Amino acid sequence: MATLPIIIAPDPRLKVKCKPVETVDEAISVLMADMLETMYLAPGIGLAAPQVGITKRVIVVDATGKDDDPNPIKMANPKILSASDELWTYEEGCLSLPDHYAEVERPARIKVGFLDENNAPCELEAEDLLATCIQHEMDHLDGMLFVDHISALKRNMILRKLVKAKKLQAHDAAAE
Ligand code: NI
Repeated sequence: MATLPIIIAPDPRLKVKCKPVETVDEAISVLMADMLETMYLAPGIGLAAPQVGITKRVIVVDATGKDDDPNPIKMANPKILSASDELWTYEEGCLSLPDHYAEVERPARIKVGFLDENNAPCELEAEDLLATCIQHEMDHLDGMLFVDHISALKRNMILRKLVKAKKLQAHDAAAE
């Protein structure tokens, strides 16, 4: 297994609509394992393939608390089969937008269909944090970030700060 570098916003590679996986083969299952390792190390509760530069419809999540046993979930071609009318609000963050958070409202319960790491079709019902996490990662597959759910004013403020942080980092690296 290997950890992969995570792309930080704003970046055009995070705005791409990803392609479906044809078959979950050895290469995709290795990608899923590497993405999980990268996510746990970060640490984060979800990661989507475009965040590591792969434009395929693959996500990994583990929304269990740090005192619980891990429950890694690997999904290729996730698709929402049903969603509750009831909404749930969570202050979301993203490994591609480090240190920024905003409240996002999404369906509280979803049923999602996907292919697992053995290419088997699966269905999963999720609620609250896990449901939010899966929806957040699925957004990445269509080039959407959590800041695309909030006001343009707040979004631009966060993106400006990220640009500034990138410039500072480049400046520091050049000074070394
Ligand atoms: Ni994210």
